[in-house]
Amino acid sequence: MSEIERKPILYSAVQPSGVLTIGNYIGALRNFKLLSDDYDCLFCMADLHALTVRQVPAELRRHTAEVAALYIACGLDPEKNIIYAQSHVHQHAELAWILNCFTYDGELRRMTQFKDKSARHADNINAGLLTYPVLMAADILLYQTAVVPVGADQKQHLELSRDIAERFNSLYGDVFVVPEPYISKSAGARVMSLTDPTAKMSKSGEPDSFISMVDDADAIRRKIRRAVTDSDGEIRVDAENKPGVTNLITITAAMSGRTPDEVCASLQGQGYGALKDAATQAIIDTLSPIQSEYKRLVADKAFIAETLKNGAERASALANRTLRKVYKKVGLYQL
Ligand code: TRP
Repeated sequence: MSEIERKPILYSAVQPSGVLTIGNYIGALRNFKLLSDDYDCLFCMADLHALTVRQVPAELRRHTAEVAALYIACGLDPEKNIIYAQSHVHQHAELAWILNCFTYDGELRRMTQFKDKSARHADNINAGLLTYPVLMAADILLYQTAVVPVGADQKQHLELSRDIAERFNSLYGDVFVVPEPYISKSAGARVMSLTDPTAKMSKSGEPDSFISMVDDADAIRRKIRRAVTDSDGEIRVDAENKPGVTNLITITAAMSGRTPDEVCASLQGQGYGALKDAATQAIIDTLSPIQSEYKRLVADKAFIAETLKNGAERASALANRTLRKVYKKVGLYQL
């Protein structure tokens, strides 16, 4: 990120709480390389957010490195983009504290995700689960972010980030850029669970419900073969009445660089077996080159460590500017 050629900032983060799925790839990852031409991008492994749910320490550590490797394997240049782990940049936790004092308890309790997660993790409704969106606001606002690509599930959190930024700005002057959601041109490519196509595909779902970015050909074939369809036998897009078939069409289209209509046309008069074969083939063809690059990178521990260190240093320098300004504005004694 050179000082002279400044582009608007794009901020994106993912929790390294597991291996990413083809849902993450289709909905986000595959677009990032193109976005990095138009924006100065930060790609964050939100490991602090992951702690709101119990993690196995060794796995959280491993997944953080794996997600970083996967991002690079998908074509993101770690020199051009800032790829880093949230916990390596202490300013996130510090700004989150300040912003906690500008966020209302009622706002946080209204968040759909808080309500859902409290129900799912009833034995561990910790304060972090409640203040999660404040840390997310800190992530975004620290970098004077212009745009944040978010899926439907994070939209409410981004709205809250905007409210917090506006509230702070109205008290102290223009400290934060108020971030906008980035609406992707391929919006609508929402990938659903293979076993319950009315729910979003998630890495925390049951094993057969998602295809991981590192699944081998056999696993991909098996999971697609078992994917839920319907009994009318016709290959067409109808998310309401045919969510399973529509999902397979979406996946096939995204993974083969075609439109859903083109996929349907190419399979005209054929059955779901043919659709499943096409989906399987498209997934394998797209993932194979990414997976071989990923395997090479993830084995290179020194490279991953160096990449994360470099990313953290660059992120920290940017974050520090905003944090200093905030500390000064709210009246903390400056040394
Ligand atoms: N909460 C996001 C998710 O689970 C991850 C996240 C953390 C994030 N910080 C962010 C996303 C900042 C966008 C911007 O998907």
